[in-house]
Amino acid sequence: METKEYPVKLLVTGASGLLGSKLTKLATKKSFQVYSAYYQNTPQQGTPIQFDISKKTSTEKTFNEIKPDIVVHAAALTHVDRCETQKELAWKINVQGTENIAKLCRRNRTYLVYVSTDYVFNGEKGNYRETDLPAPINHYGTTKLKGEEYAQSLALDVCIARTSVVYGSIPATGKTNFALWLLDKLRRDEEVKIVTDQTNSPTLNTNLANMILEIVDRRLTGIYHLAGATALSRYDFAKALAEEFNLNTQLIKPVTSREIAWKAKRPRNSSLNVAKATQTLGSKPLKIHEALRELREELSLNK
Ligand SMILES: NC(=O)c1ccc[n+]([C@@H]2O[C@H](COP(=O)([O-])OP(=O)(O)OC[C@H]3O[C@@H](n4cnc5c(N)ncnc54)[C@H](OP(=O)(O)O)[C@@H]3O)[C@@H](O)[C@H]2O)c1
Repeated sequence: METKEYPVKLLVTGASGLLGSKLTKLATKKSFQVYSAYYQNTPQQGTPIQFDISKKTSTEKTFNEIKPDIVVHAAALTHVDRCETQKELAWKINVQGTENIAKLCRRNRTYLVYVSTDYVFNGEKGNYRETDLPAPINHYGTTKLKGEEYAQSLALDVCIARTSVVYGSIPATGKTNFALWLLDKLRRDEEVKIVTDQTNSPTLNTNLANMILEIVDRRLTGIYHLAGATALSRYDFAKALAEEFNLNTQLIKPVTSREIAWKAKRPRNSSLNVAKATQTLGSKPLKIHEALRELREELSLNK
């Protein structure tokens, strides 16, 4: 595939989200020409572009106007319970939206990075490699996996970047993330109930964005697990956060998933094996203590 001289036009969907906001911020510094696509919340970085990815005509119009060289497709309905109760909406955004984007990438020979999830796995095994077979147990995971299939079968040059429990110092517009929510609760001296029976690979959005930008620079294709390098239960993640920020760990009370009225089932252990990313990339998946140190620094510097 031909690579162009800078400035390369990078279209990021979901640019107002937790990952997209960090990705566009870092990409702007790397002198990409950044187009920040959103639906309802105007992004802070790059040139804002509003359209609904589930609408074929508006998606096509945007592509024709911008003619992106690269698309990082991070837009999705990410609320796992909402995907379960609003299945059609989740399908429209996560599956048809991805189909629309992947078709346009094919037509325009645009390199595509599709951001996917550890929830494509059933969670019975944990430590999933890129070669393991996905088998989602909830609708969110099903739609994200179908999105992977469309991205892979339609786009010509595509990378599937699977990640897990993303957190960061800058919240997505209008919503918090697990780490910021927990720190806020503990600072107010409030007790929190956190599940012990769900294990993932918590991922700092800065670490994830840096890995994706390297993948983009090198035009890597195939599947990559881009996540934190430490598998942790949600409870242990909460404890690690509290310890890093010198907050009272006694406020964190262990519960099991059965005690929480979730609409969607959650995989028990969908942690991702990040050996491939560690071996391939210069920008490595961070271990939990490295990532939490970076989070603390970002929060203190208001980065
Ligand atoms: N967060 C996690 O823990 C996690 C874990 C694994 C994988 N992932 C994957 O990582 C990616 C990024 O996640 P995130 O946490 O950054 O997401 P997020 O904060 O929930 O943001 C979702 C983004 O999607 C956009 N969007 C939603 N519906 C849209 C539509 N119909 N048309 C256009 N844009 C639409 C939103 O735009 P507006 O805000 O403007 O409406 C927002 O920018 C997603 O693909 C997700 O599946 C996330």
